Amino acid sequence: MLEIKNYMNLMNGEWRTSKEQISIFSPLDQQELGKIPAMTKDEIDEAMTAACVALQSWRETPIVNRTKILYKAAELLDERKDLIAKVLAKEIAKNFKSAVSEVVRTADLIRYTAEEGIRIHGDVMKGDTFEASSKNKLAIISHEPMGVVLAIAPFNYPINLAGSKIAPALIGGNVVIFKPPTQGAMSALLLAEVFHDAGLPKGVLNTVTGKGSVIGDYIISHPAVNFINFTGSTAVGKRIGELAGMTPLLLELGGKDAAIVLEDADLEKAANEIVQGAFNYSGQRCTAIKRVLVIDQVADQLVKLIQQKVESLKVGDPFDNADITPLINTQAADFVEELAQDAIKQGATVIVPIKREGNLIHPGVFDHVTLDMRIAWEEPFGPILPIIHVKDEREAIAINNKSEYGLQAAIFTQNTTKALELSSKLEVGTVHLNSKTQRGPDNFPFLGIKQSGVGVQGIRYSIESMTKIKSVVINI
Ligand code: NAP
Ligand code: G3H
Repeated sequence: MLEIKNYMNLMNGEWRTSKEQISIFSPLDQQELGKIPAMTKDEIDEAMTAACVALQSWRETPIVNRTKILYKAAELLDERKDLIAKVLAKEIAKNFKSAVSEVVRTADLIRYTAEEGIRIHGDVMKGDTFEASSKNKLAIISHEPMGVVLAIAPFNYPINLAGSKIAPALIGGNVVIFKPPTQGAMSALLLAEVFHDAGLPKGVLNTVTGKGSVIGDYIISHPAVNFINFTGSTAVGKRIGELAGMTPLLLELGGKDAAIVLEDADLEKAANEIVQGAFNYSGQRCTAIKRVLVIDQVADQLVKLIQQKVESLKVGDPFDNADITPLINTQAADFVEELAQDAIKQGATVIVPIKREGNLIHPGVFDHVTLDMRIAWEEPFGPILPIIHVKDEREAIAINNKSEYGLQAAIFTQNTTKALELSSKLEVGTVHLNSKTQRGPDNFPFLGIKQSGVGVQGIRYSIESMTKIKSVVINI
């Protein structure tokens, strides 16, 4: 019999429950795993007040002391990696090996954030660059905290996409209100516990749980919030944008990343990268490869290689380290099935058929996908891969750029000059040459353009995004 644990929120340095609870069920077998508090507006106000009160002393805490807490948090995360990964694997059906990697990656990210934070020095500028009368001016430019940062993470990386917001916010002198994804909250609250146990002073990190559809508008428009750092769907991101008004924000949203395969590509390598890129964590990644644009001449050869690799993916249990595991919920599985049915109805060639068992969708590959099919444009967030044939690279660029999204793209070719030329034409935040699309390494800039986001993440960029420039001008 599984123990059903009641998780609590970290508020003003204490663990607090609420009158109402939300039950969390495993996507693996629908077993109840635990309960999380459904916070009331009054409780949210209390958390916001605690954060505002904590801000003054935290922003004045020497950065070297802030780094010590982050180093300790990283150490504790490493120590607790198996325990947290077990909860992650059950709660979001991520395979155990990837769940451990997510925790370890977050510990590394926190350590790097501490190191990077120490090096955010600010700047000094002399005033003799314009009129002579400015010669006696000297500007001392520093990075000041934004204040209260509201961090909201999605279900697919409850630890990493929380840590990558919380750690840079804290090192920059901010205090944090963290809203975890409801499915993923149990794991995320274990991360909050790590920060607490590492010695974070009371009120510096507070968690707020409850369904986004219920408390979302309230927290987004809360007057105490000075910065919003959100990762999730484009639909929710747009809603946040509408409500945020003048509150600065960072949005990392959906994507429809293409792998563009040219005629001179190493097809074996391309197929490997495409299959990993499209099917890791069952395609539930913003950076998953969500369509292939291949030059007609090499398409059949590539499709054959992709088919072989997809057919050998392991499907099933996260604790057996399967590549493909049940999707997060029934709605997500229904949506993937709907996109697949639309493609089949409209004449796509089924290379690997999808098969559904509850929320587990076996991986599917569709060839000869045409531009009138929904799967050519929509983000499935599941294990299906559409392949579109193009006559040349110009057509590939045009199709890529017609997407409402602009997260990443990959180009497979052995001609680096051509790859660089094409990269400059792709309307995306990042182009990967001869590799799958991906966010990391976590110190690299990570951003989406168009409907894929606003602002830039990546350790140094995140610290800069969550601090504001302050100048003091000395007149000598
Ligand atoms: P989601 O439904 O947008 O939820 C993301 C977070 O927002 C969750 O914590 C959710 O809470 C909360 N939320 C929901 N409605 C809200 C509202 N009205 N106001 C404020 N917060 C609200 O996304 P998801 O299903 O978790 O994640 C999948 C999506 O995220 C995909 O589109 C994927 O591409 C995108 N994503 C993008 C990136 C990136 O870096 N570009 C990374 C990962 C995922 P509840 O769980 O309580 O609803
Ligand atoms: O789901 C979106 C994440 O930002 C993707 O991160 O490329 O490391 O899997 P990843």
